[in-house]
Amino acid sequence: MIKQETIQQIQSSIDIIDIVGTFVKLKKRGANYLGNCPFHHEKTPSFTVSPSKEIYKCFGCGKSGNAIGFLMEHEKYSYVEALRWLADKYNIEIEETETSPEFKALQLTSDSLFIINNFAKDFFSNALINTDEGRDIALSYLKERGFRDDIIQKFQLGFNPGAKDDFTIAALDKQYNKDLLVKSGLVVNRDDKLSDNYRGRIIFPIHNQSGKVLGFGARIIKSNDKSPKYINTPENEIYIKSRILYGSYFARTAIDKANECLLVEGYTDVVSLHQAGIENVVASGGTSLTIEQLRLIKKYTGNLTIIYDGDSAGIKAALRGLDLAVEESLNVKLVLIPDKEDPDSYVNKIGAAAFIDFINREKKDFILFQLEIALKDAGNDTSKKSIIVNQIAETISKINKAEEFTTRQDYIKQVSEILKIEESGFNALVNKIIRDKLSKEDQKSQRIEIPADTENTQVENETNQLFNKDELHEQAVVRTLIEFGLREWDENEKVAQHIFKQMDESDLHEMIDNKLLLKIIQVYRKWFNEGIEPSEKTFLYMDDHEISDQVVKLMKMDTEISPNWNKHYEGFIPSRDDLYKEEVISTLNYLQLRKIKKLIAENQVDLEKATNPQEEMIFIQTHQHLKKIEVELTKKIGSVIIK
Ligand code: CTP
Ligand code: MN
Repeated sequence: MIKQETIQQIQSSIDIIDIVGTFVKLKKRGANYLGNCPFHHEKTPSFTVSPSKEIYKCFGCGKSGNAIGFLMEHEKYSYVEALRWLADKYNIEIEETETSPEFKALQLTSDSLFIINNFAKDFFSNALINTDEGRDIALSYLKERGFRDDIIQKFQLGFNPGAKDDFTIAALDKQYNKDLLVKSGLVVNRDDKLSDNYRGRIIFPIHNQSGKVLGFGARIIKSNDKSPKYINTPENEIYIKSRILYGSYFARTAIDKANECLLVEGYTDVVSLHQAGIENVVASGGTSLTIEQLRLIKKYTGNLTIIYDGDSAGIKAALRGLDLAVEESLNVKLVLIPDKEDPDSYVNKIGAAAFIDFINREKKDFILFQLEIALKDAGNDTSKKSIIVNQIAETISKINKAEEFTTRQDYIKQVSEILKIEESGFNALVNKIIRDKLSKEDQKSQRIEIPADTENTQVENETNQLFNKDELHEQAVVRTLIEFGLREWDENEKVAQHIFKQMDESDLHEMIDNKLLLKIIQVYRKWFNEGIEPSEKTFLYMDDHEISDQVVKLMKMDTEISPNWNKHYEGFIPSRDDLYKEEVISTLNYLQLRKIKKLIAENQVDLEKATNPQEEMIFIQTHQHLKKIEVELTKKIGSVIIK
């Protein structure tokens, strides 16, 4: 585990603009910075970063967090990985405490595999360039295929010599653990004898996002029927096939710049296209795309262009997975390379400029392409056609995010034209599918939320629906506390003290239903009583991420006032800052009112159960009393300016 002191040192070095700015183009807007949200597709920026609050927030998709959370979300780092990334950036030396043996073992295995792979990469590269065998057999083959020296070096291509165990001997000489060598896939164990797994093959190292070697693809040089064309690293702690996109390390900035990711099948396709100057390209390794790979792409761009061989068997498999891409809001295009060619051979044949032309000319929309294929398949069969209508409606219904409305309508229009069906009818079908899905999800979540029977909960639920269905009021009090708690309430006390006077421990439990919000208030009070002055920052980097996430969600960005407004009011527009006392009053009044409403409902239940007139009378009087308070509170709330 990383030591607490190191974590604090990292936290105090954080410059959120610098960190987020590494991944998102930000422009200064008043006190904040603004950019296009990296977590959802948008054309007008609603992603806001506050340097003073050290948080980010997207007003489009609602994602929010601190700098560490940003790295976790954006780079898919774990908490510790995010800390390591920051430590690296700010040159902070990480000190660690003792860790559990299990964690250490896992960490050790991963670290060791990286070390072994790195050694292997250098070994293979040296064998390719600096040995006679490598030059004669492997380098000459690569040269024959047209690969230049600079590109061979960039992709760190290599060669595993043909002898039984050249690499194995070198690795054992370095004292690498035998089990780990086997685990890495570089070495095989046959009858207790270790030997090289990739004998006589060209080696393609496979890198992760930061350029470390996860594993290898090893291509046979002279194809024969007995051995497979490629041998790949087996799944292990660091080589997880479903998450790997070959070339992503080299393509990353180019994808960002082009705002498009080209996807091909093979290692050689990636390398050849790079050599031709087309660098925004990655390879899937010939299998259908996984959700993890799609998300990886989505981190860089919303536009995916798939370039496959026209006769490829992989194309159908690839197409099958692509509904997933639509769900991830990726805009998918498809290009088929002419028969008997693949991107590597084709770019070598026609040259870079013609290849780019070809891609741009032949790019077909994936959804419409799918429709085309299905229609060809169906021929004149009308029953098949109705199946197609439903299938395509199902696909289009996955374009269901608010900001995708126009895209969806565009598809509906085009598809109805192609299918020669009424647009309004098809539109209705798509909407029905979306509605059905939503109501199914609704039912699911309701089933979890509402506990079974008892009259009490029923009454409570009705009140809930009327007044406190959402937790806005509970959230408001926590926000007010954190934001204004340290301000003056009057000469004698601070806002926090005033709030706690209004809500003592027993009130708290009654007024705040949400366990997490309750916990935050309690933590605040504990700190406050201990003389720690809690602010937004105190919560921001708490170990309890549930709490810090919630606090970030509650925080408001300092919003800007439009220049016109400013002109109109000649400078004076009260902000939340000026009105904090009103906010405290109204927040407390709302909670109070909620409590009263709850009491009224409970009293009502008791009244119905009353067994004699005296009892009834008491409940009726209570009711009248509560009602009076309710009316007063409602009046008060009406007179207070609230946002
Ligand atoms: N592949 C694999 N195992 C195989 C065959 C293929 O893992 N036995 C994967 C590799 O990632 C390969 C991709 O599928 O790069 C595409 O296969 P293919 O088109 O046959 O290979 P190319 O990369 O085009 O290799 P080359 O150009 O040298 O034929
Ligand atoms: Mn090829």
